[in-house]
Amino acid sequence: MKITIIGTGYVGLVSGACFADVGNTVLCLDVHAGKIEMLNKGIIPIHEPGLDGLVTSNAAAGRLLFSTSYDDAVEHAEVIFLAVGTPPDEDGSADLTHILSAARSIGQRIARPVVVVDKSTVPVGTADKVRAAIAGELAKRGADIEFAVVSNPEFLKEGAAIGDFMRPDRIVVGSDDPAATKLMRQLYAPFSRNHEKLVEMDVRSAELTKYAANSMLATRISFMNELANLAELLGADIESVRLGMGLDPRIGSQFLYAGMGYGGSCFPKDVKALIKTASGLDQQLHILTATEAVNEAQKNVLFNKLVRYFGGAGQLAGKTIALWGLSFKPNTDDMRESPSLVLIRSLFEAGAKVRAYDPVASKEALRILEAEHGAERCAQSLTMVGQGMDAVADADVLVLVTEWKEFRAPDFAALAGILRHKAIFDGRNIYDPEAVTEAGLRYEGIGRTS
Ligand code: UGA
Repeated sequence: MKITIIGTGYVGLVSGACFADVGNTVLCLDVHAGKIEMLNKGIIPIHEPGLDGLVTSNAAAGRLLFSTSYDDAVEHAEVIFLAVGTPPDEDGSADLTHILSAARSIGQRIARPVVVVDKSTVPVGTADKVRAAIAGELAKRGADIEFAVVSNPEFLKEGAAIGDFMRPDRIVVGSDDPAATKLMRQLYAPFSRNHEKLVEMDVRSAELTKYAANSMLATRISFMNELANLAELLGADIESVRLGMGLDPRIGSQFLYAGMGYGGSCFPKDVKALIKTASGLDQQLHILTATEAVNEAQKNVLFNKLVRYFGGAGQLAGKTIALWGLSFKPNTDDMRESPSLVLIRSLFEAGAKVRAYDPVASKEALRILEAEHGAERCAQSLTMVGQGMDAVADADVLVLVTEWKEFRAPDFAALAGILRHKAIFDGRNIYDPEAVTEAGLRYEGIGRTS
């Protein structure tokens, strides 16, 4: 099939490469010429395991093309995916500027029937707006061309995006047009073999499914974080509680990990957007409002522990805190809404120095922090280093922020020999408190007794 994907962010690029890999000819369009230039040179703008190879091999085979030309992109395709960003507006609602401008660009150009697919996470009712935008442009041209608008939300996780796309749990297709539904079935057949994974529904339900799924996952995390804080007060261990709960198949074991709060480009944005959508209809989403509030508070949990450990915020001045990990989760350089930024801001404010190491996100983190605090301030208070052990050299304590694999089994005895204050703050509960304390270090996790 001939497919066009508008927007070469995470979702667009991964979808494009995966559709090409099963034999389709895919044209990826982006309005940022620099991005397309890089992609045409084989440089991938994001860090996503496996994506590099998939893009270069399919581009070399002529199945994956990159362009900035809407004329070429619309001419190319029988199916056009919209995978542009929907950043939050100031009030938390999703900003549809990019989606609707892409829709108008399609309407200005289509010359034969086409199926337009919303893959971006968009509020319920957006497909109607996309349809109206395309129809408006067709009317201006006096053209009468058939088109359908389908909702097909994406459920891929950063860091595991290729696997999630190639072997999806489910494929949600919201369509009010039987011919478009049939085409979507054909398109997804290679990813749905042997098991029926495609769920058909109306367009609005598909749009809501995406927000519902992310909101449920975010709520589970906030629920566990709140329980973790209670477990500490009660002298219980949230890790044991998690195991005991997760074995109940009605609950399941995933997304029950207490930590420093959820971050990334999806949960924070989608939770806010759904709350906003509901309030626009005079409904308050009490549970989601609490999910968000708990998450904001949780991002301060480690800083508060550091303050308690050193005996007051004033005592942090002049201390050096080593951070392992900066990205919002492992296997990505994405720093959006990362809890590490909240921690670093508080440490700066308290006059502490930070020595940080992340396998891939240091550059992006520095860019964000320099924009916020200025290069001079960052140079005084923040040192980015190239290895985990370089971060702990000359540090008072170690804070594990992101659970990258390489941090999983450190030499605790060596750490005990280096850290001035012999303490590890484990923001992801990846260490065995006993092993840490046996090495002569104090252990502080999230919701655990040390
Ligand atoms: C999330 C969803 O998991 C995907 O299904 C969805 O497609 C995607 O959003 C999206 O809407 O595009 P992602 O943001 O890449 O994916 O990352 P997750 O793996 O879900 O992690 C989100 C945050 O929750 C991270 O900060 C992670 O550390 C945190 N988390 C996750 C926890 O604190 N505890 C857990 O048990 C799980």
